[in-house]
Parts: sequence; C-alpha cells; structure tokens
Amino acid sequence: MAKEDSSTPTQQSPAGNLMEKIVALTKRRGFIFQSSEVYGGVNGAWDYGPMGVLLKRNVKDAWWRAMVHEREDIVGLDSAILMHPLVWKSSGHVDGFSDPMIDCKTCKKRFRSDDMDGAVCGLKPSKSPLACGGELTEPRNFNLMFETFLGPISDSSAKTFLRPETAQGIFANFANVISTTRVKVPFGIAQVGKSFRNEINPRNFTFRSREFEQMEMEFFCVPGTDDDWFKKWVEIRKRWYTDLGLSDGKLRLRDHDKLAHYSKATTDIEYLFPFGWGELEGIANRTDFDLRQHQRGIRTVGKWDGGDLSSVELAAEDAEYQKGKLSYFDDEKKQRYIPYVIEPAAGADRATLAFLCDAYAEDNAPDANGKVETRVVLRLHPRLAPIKAAILPLMRKDGHPERARKIYDDLKRRFFVDYDESAAIGKRYRRQDEIGTPLCITVDYDTITDGTVTVRDRDTMQQVRVSEDKLRDLIEEKIGL
Ligand code: GAP
Repeated sequence: MAKEDSSTPTQQSPAGNLMEKIVALTKRRGFIFQSSEVYGGVNGAWDYGPMGVLLKRNVKDAWWRAMVHEREDIVGLDSAILMHPLVWKSSGHVDGFSDPMIDCKTCKKRFRSDDMDGAVCGLKPSKSPLACGGELTEPRNFNLMFETFLGPISDSSAKTFLRPETAQGIFANFANVISTTRVKVPFGIAQVGKSFRNEINPRNFTFRSREFEQMEMEFFCVPGTDDDWFKKWVEIRKRWYTDLGLSDGKLRLRDHDKLAHYSKATTDIEYLFPFGWGELEGIANRTDFDLRQHQRGIRTVGKWDGGDLSSVELAAEDAEYQKGKLSYFDDEKKQRYIPYVIEPAAGADRATLAFLCDAYAEDNAPDANGKVETRVVLRLHPRLAPIKAAILPLMRKDGHPERARKIYDDLKRRFFVDYDESAAIGKRYRRQDEIGTPLCITVDYDTITDGTVTVRDRDTMQQVRVSEDKLRDLIEEKIGL
C-alpha cells in the first residue's frame, strides 16, 4: 500500500506575489499559455492548454447545466460570430461602443484615459504616463469592435465586425425561437461563445483580453415584472459562484450609479482577485431597448445603400412597431407587446481565472520520506477539476500496471481520469495536487490479492481503502452528480 502523505496538511498563506505564482503554475501545468508564444507572443490573447481547456469547459458546462439543462424556462442557442452590419448599428455599438483613448506623442503608446493610474508608459524606466513627462493628446473615442469584411471586396457595404458580445445574436433570433419552440414569456435564451474587443490596455492576465468567451442569457419578461426578475437573477447568479466553491467573502455585489445607454439597472458580481476587485458578471435590466432597436433595424435594411454605418438613420419607431416581428403575442391575454429583458452576462475566462485564484493554496505537508515541505494544491471544486481521479500503479511490475489500466479503462467511460506510472508515487501525488485532481487511486500489492485500492483525498491527504467496484460511486459522490 502507498504509505506517504497520510498526515493532515496545515494551511499556510502563500508568501510572495500570489498572482505571479498563479500565472507560473498555470503555465507549468498546462493551463494557460500566451497566444503565439513561440513568435514572441500576442498581447491580449491566450491559449488554454491540456488542463486549461478541461477546466474552462467544466466552467462553461456548469453554467450551461444551471442555466439551460436544469431550467424549464430557458433554451439554448449558438449563433454566428459574423452578423449583418446593421445589427451593430441598431444595438448602438457602431456609435457608442468606445473607450476614451489618449496617445503619448513621446513614447507612441496608447492608454485608456479612464485607466491612467494603472497604465505603464512605454519608456524605461517604466512609470505612469501621468508621471513620465511624455506629451499626451486630448482624449478621443476609440471604437473597440474589430472590423472585418464579408466576401472578397473590402468596401463599406461588406464591412462588418467580430461580435463584441454574444447578446445580439440572441435578440436577432428572438422571433425564430418563439416560432420554433413552445416557450412563453417569461423565458430565457442562453448562449456561450467567443467575443472580441480591441481593448486599449489588455491586462491582468486573462482578465481583460481582446478575445474571450462570454456566457450570456437574455431573460424576456412582462414589463412591470422586470424589477422582481432583476433581483432574482442577481441572487441566482451570485449563488452559482459560491455553489462552485468561490469564497463568499471574496465576492461582492456592486450597483452601478452610471448606467449604460440600454440599462435601467445594473449590478456587477465582483471577485477579489490578487490584483484587486474585478467584475465577473454584470446583471442588467435592459428594458425593451434591444428588441425595439432591432425592430427599427430590420425596417432599415431595404433603405440602407451600403454606405458608412455611422451616417445611417434607423427607421423611425412608428405606431406599428409594437406589432413587428420582434414583438410577442400573449395567447391568454390576447395582447401583443415588446418584452423587457434581464441579462446576466458572465465571462468564462474571468470565472475560470477566479476559480483558479480562489483554489490556489499552499500548505505544509510531509513528503514521501516524512520531511515536511511546502505543497502547492489547487482546491478546485471537484466538478470543475480537469481530472476527477488519477489511477496510479504503485510499482511498474508485479501486475500493478495491468490492474491499474483495467480500472482506468472502466472509469474513463464515465469520468475524465488520468493514468500515470511515470515517477515515484510521492511525485505523482504532488503533480495531481497541482492540477487539482480530487482523488488519487493507487493500485498496490493488496489490490492483487483482495481487490481493494487506496483512495487519497487531495485536500486532507487522508487515504482510505476501498473495493475496486465501489470506485464509480465514490467519484460520483465526490463530484456531486
Ligand atoms: N451583453 C452585455 C455585456 O457584454 P459586459 O459587462 O461588457 O456586458 C459581460 O460583458 C462579461 O464579459 C463581463 O462581466 C466579463 O466577465 C466579460 N468580459 C467583458 N470584456 C472582457 C474582456 N475584455 N476580457 C475578458 N472578459 C471580458
């Protein structure tokens, strides 16, 4: 039987720069790499490695399960990233999706004028652009949408954008969903997918990127019931994070006092990252703004000559707009109206980063020879952990690998599990601790004679002996399936 690691570890506060340690761990263990790293890297874009892709997928799956799978009133969608250019005119992104930007004429760098305190000037030694003495321009607006062209001709009629949010794909499909499913207001449409924003200052690792994934849901409700639904969704969404193990003490709600043009109320769910409080998700009461705007937009299509979008006038909102394609007919009340929308909009990359930061821990634990050393462990919720269990033969002989493989082959049909016979058992445990594997299953001499294995718990490091045929149930219980 594997004998090390049987005493309880004692938690310690990680010394040094916590964020640097987390970034180093995510690289060392194959969670996150900088995009195009071998070419010197690209700013604001990230690649998820073998562990990262599993973790992020588990985050997205947990969201999908809570928002679509377990709810009768929400359906899913996967809309295209490329959309009709007028979508972005109607939504307000062409005219208003911009950040104020300042150029430094001395070092030629660009900064967000509302984020100058955290910015770093391009000259060495690096200082704040407010302190380096460089000549700064007046702020001007910079549209964050990435432009592209549909087809081979790069003129204004072919110009469109990589979507800066997934939400507009949902609004554009409102009528399709109504006519093809049995949904009735109140109901929601949810989707997970890539969004793109040409951020002026991408920073804080994956927190502010130029390419990222969103998990958004538009919940359509009867006008007048929107305030109640807004409150409900703020509560539901905050609970989702704590149910998946995020520390309640590091989460807070922040009500906006300066509201976006489409919003009647917005509350952010923020997490205390090692670099400070940051938004994980915004819950907004978008009223009937979007459906009404698109109602105008779809009437503009025939009138648009393909010219510059910023000078396009959307069709007027005449008396007929209530009856348009994006309205809803209530069969029981025999009334037609434009629903109000509550939008919980979360970032998959930010949630993943928060779960990583929250899970990172160091403790004092004995190594294989009983010597106490610092152990790095990711205490991820078992449902989010990339690998649910590692199957480890104690020896590379005496039938251990064959028996361990048999267990692995059985468990892999149900869970994402790992087989590892590569190093000393203590080293293999430590590797699994660093990637957050909740259980390590060791096959040893007793397994060969009586069919039992040891199961080691990542957090307590305690080991119990169980029969091989109990392993499925044990893992299921741990994950909470
Ligand atoms: N449809 C509303 C909307 O897009 P948002 O607050 O701009 O609202 C929603 O974005 C979420 O998307 C944010 O709370 C954040 O988690 C994520 N997000 C936004 N910009 C991001 C960026 N540059 N990098 C990473 N995640 C981002």
